[in-house]
Formats: sequence, structure tokens, C-alpha cells
Amino acid sequence: MLKSVALKAFSFPMLFPILESVWRTLPELWKTGTHEYKLWPCIDASSDSLCRSIEEPGQVELNFMMRFLIVVGLATSLAAVAMAAALPEISLKKTTDESRRVALQVSVELKNQLLREMQLSGPVRSLLVCRYTCPEILSAQSRKSGWKVAAVSLKPRNSALGMPDAWEQEVLMDFERRAARGEKVDALEFSEVVSEPQASYFRYARAMMMEPLCLPCHGSRDKMSDAVKAQLALDYPFDKAVDFSIGQVYGIVSIKRPF
Ligand code: HEC
Repeated sequence: MLKSVALKAFSFPMLFPILESVWRTLPELWKTGTHEYKLWPCIDASSDSLCRSIEEPGQVELNFMMRFLIVVGLATSLAAVAMAAALPEISLKKTTDESRRVALQVSVELKNQLLREMQLSGPVRSLLVCRYTCPEILSAQSRKSGWKVAAVSLKPRNSALGMPDAWEQEVLMDFERRAARGEKVDALEFSEVVSEPQASYFRYARAMMMEPLCLPCHGSRDKMSDAVKAQLALDYPFDKAVDFSIGQVYGIVSIKRPF
């Protein structure tokens, strides 16, 4: 908040009128000053006319060069403040954009693999894609990026990989609230920088929405094929990832990276 105010205040169109009015009023301000102007230390005041005259308030003419230097100094300081305020915001935006790109890429890849397998060999064999290929896509992306890239849910199927941590649980609950308020589910995202005992992390989450493609394995248990039900019971005895309907938030692609 403060940063964006600083950014707006010191944006370049604002800077010119400020500097222009300083330039105009500087000679008047200079003349009315009653305190001493010591621009640099004087070792031998009597031999240095500039030094001597500066020490005598009200008697020094503000020449063009000094006026110019003061205004340039002021402009440089204001620009430095603006840059310092802008840099973290720019780097945060870049980090968010990168994370969004990776999350979308991962979702598309997961869905494409699943769709291909579902069309080729149906839901029972596709369970293998979810079991082996999906975790592999996520961990390949983690290795490539150096971040932790995961898919987690409040009702996970695989508790080893799909269980959300505290931050992810908060985000998932918030996404459910936002979805209930009518926000577009497949556009839900959230990011923030989080401090932990060892380090700070940038965290990003993007909602995964239930679609018709997901229903054979995550939809109503009553409508699931017996073969899928039997395989799920065998592989995931504590499966919670069923009875979802289209349009619901099922989980998130979650990214955690050092910041
Ligand atoms: C062919 C069955 C099948 C289909 C279709 C399917 N999934 Fe899954 N899904 C699974 C299985 C099996 C797992 C557990 C994978 C594992 O062992 O890590 C899983 C796990 C997940 C997870 C990881 C969290 C968890 O529960 O362990 C997410 C998120 C997920 N699925 C989302 C989706 C979405 C979104 C769709 C639709 C686009 C979908 N799935 C379609 C079978 C399926």
C-alpha cells in the first residue's frame, strides 16, 4: 500500500512540476534564509572567496550553477526513492507472472495426459496416469524450477502427496468462499510472501476446477463404474476425493519458492 502511494507520488509526470517550482522559488528562499550556509568545510576562510561569502548569510547571490546543482540533487534523490519503492513491486510482479505461467503449464499438461489416456483406454487404465504420470509431471517441474510444485486438496486421494499444509488449507477454504460469492473458479488465484523460521517464501496457488473429464474418478460414487471403485478402494483405502460436482474447486496447483 505504502509502496504504491510512493510510486504514484514520485512518478515522473509528478516530478517535473515539483522540480520546476523548486527551480522558480529557490532564489527567493535563498535570500530570505537567516541561517548560515556551509556547503563544504572551510579550512582557510580568508583565502577562499566562495567559502567566505557562503558563510555570510543573505549576501550570497545564488548563481545558476548552484541552483542547477541543488535541483539536480533533489531530482536524483526523488528518483532514487521512487526506484527503491518500485523495485520490490516489480520483482513481485515478475515472480507472480512466472509462477502463474508454470501453474497453468502444469494444469494443461496434467489434463492433456489424462484426456489422451481416457480416450485411448478409459478410466481404469487412466488411474495409472494419475497415479504415476501426474506426480512425475509435478516433480519434474519442481526439479526444473527449483521450486516446490504440488497439487493438493482439502479432500485428498493420496495423503502422501495431496495433503495441504496450513497455508494451502487457508487458501483452499478462501477459494471455496470466493467461488460461493460467484467468482470464476478457474481464474481463482492467490499469492503472497510468507516468512518461516528459516527463510521467506513466495507462495502461489491456482484453483483446479472439477470438469466433466474428472467425474469418472472424482464424481458421485454412485455413478462410478464398479471397476474404478474397486481399483480406488485397492489403491487408496482412505480416499476422500469423491462426490464432487462440475464447477467445484477440487484442489490447487501450489507453488512454493524461495524469495
Ligand atoms: C482416471 C481417474 C481420474 C481422473 C479422470 C481424474 N483424476 Fe484426479 N486423481 C486420480 C488419482 C488416482 C489420484 C491420486 C494420484 C496419486 O496417487 O498421487 C488423483 C489425484 C488428484 C489430485 C491430487 C490431490 C489428491 O487428491 O491426491 C488432484 C488435485 C486431482 N486429482 C485433480 C483432478 C482434476 C482437476 C481432474 C479433472 C481435470 C482429475 N483429477 C481427473 C484419478 C483421477
